[in-house]
Amino acid sequence: MAQSTGLAGFYRQTPGNDDLVCDGVSLTAIAASTGTPVYVYSAAVLRERYQVIDAAFGDYPHALHYALKANSTLAIARLMRALGSAVDANSVWEIEVARRAGFEPSQIVFTGVGKSPEELERAVALGVKAINVESGGELARLEAIAVRLGRIVRVAIRINPDIDAKSHPHISTGLKINKFGLPLDEARELVQTLTGRPSLALVAIHVHVGSQITSLDPLRRAAALAADVSLDLQRQGFPLEYVDLGGGLGVSYDGGAVPSAADYVGVLLGEVRRTSLPIVIEPGRVIAAPAGALLARVIDVKPRTATSDFIIIDAGMTELMRPALYDAFHRIEPVSAPATGDRHYEIVGPVCESTDVVGRDRMLPPLAAGDLVAIRDAGAYGAVMASNYNRRPMPAEVLVDGGEWRVIRRRQTIDDLLAQES
Ligand SMILES: Cc1ncc(COP(=O)(O)O)c(C=O)c1O
Repeated sequence: MAQSTGLAGFYRQTPGNDDLVCDGVSLTAIAASTGTPVYVYSAAVLRERYQVIDAAFGDYPHALHYALKANSTLAIARLMRALGSAVDANSVWEIEVARRAGFEPSQIVFTGVGKSPEELERAVALGVKAINVESGGELARLEAIAVRLGRIVRVAIRINPDIDAKSHPHISTGLKINKFGLPLDEARELVQTLTGRPSLALVAIHVHVGSQITSLDPLRRAAALAADVSLDLQRQGFPLEYVDLGGGLGVSYDGGAVPSAADYVGVLLGEVRRTSLPIVIEPGRVIAAPAGALLARVIDVKPRTATSDFIIIDAGMTELMRPALYDAFHRIEPVSAPATGDRHYEIVGPVCESTDVVGRDRMLPPLAAGDLVAIRDAGAYGAVMASNYNRRPMPAEVLVDGGEWRVIRRRQTIDDLLAQES
């Protein structure tokens, strides 16, 4: 296997050699060995992205709970754990992945707008760090389980701050019209009931206003609100342990400017310091997105208009749903040719849906069947959202680490696909 050049992430080897590599390892070689489509992740980028956020807190007490929903492949979860991360799980199945990756219950916060009774019971029995509660009904169900199991359950109350995250409407969660959390008044009322409910221990206030947030203002306002409410509750004698500010920091998919980790953490500290409470954050995308690329091969090129062709690749909405789901933009580059060129292309997947467009209006060098392309910044909300539509198998996943690469999830086979059927 190729030796690393010591550079991190996806880059072109040397001037004049256009081969795109990951941490010095040839993507052409990986794709030749594994086939396509295949996700390739850079361990170096995952580490760097985690460490830069962690370091930005300086001495201030904090915990990063990596959001497994962004990418929960076991090897990635294990890598995060080795870095010292804790996790945010959004279902009992993510909790089980976290357990198998070696996380202790005390390192798991459990979020999610619709946790089933079975999910709540498992989380209570495990004794996770906190269950982030989204409604009065959920709190009552949780209390009943805690009483039945003779446990005291640690809860955080998720406030819906009615703040516009100004990201895509499908990934904004902090407005009143969104299904997440409790409006401030209701949250305050609910907290007051806790004094007479000994099975419930309030440990934190939680906010999360959306994902791919590229302006710090909504994050600052959400942090300010969480800090105000926490201070108020501390004054009333609630022994809060931390403030949970969720995730949401965006990444640059198109090369545009986004806030740095240092600026982001600075904003959070600026609001929360006055509570003297430790800060918990739940970053997902900002750590995992730039660490991954989806490699696909051109299956066909066919005319579209007088000046534009379709490029049909062997990855589509089944492997990377974001463009079809949110009209999301991902850079798409040939692996063995310059990143841009003078041919106008519409890059589409093989799935029988017209929405299966991976890249609109792209200017690339001439491409032909068999060429390899890399869909960049696909490490978050990529593999985890893959589906078997059209009976397409889940793609393989590869981790590049220290100049070596290995398959961390093999491609599904037709036997895997049919194993649960009779
Ligand atoms: C409660 C919660 N925490 C954390 C995250 C992770 O968000 P992101 O990947 O944008 O950092 C999400 C995702 O939307 C979420 O719903």
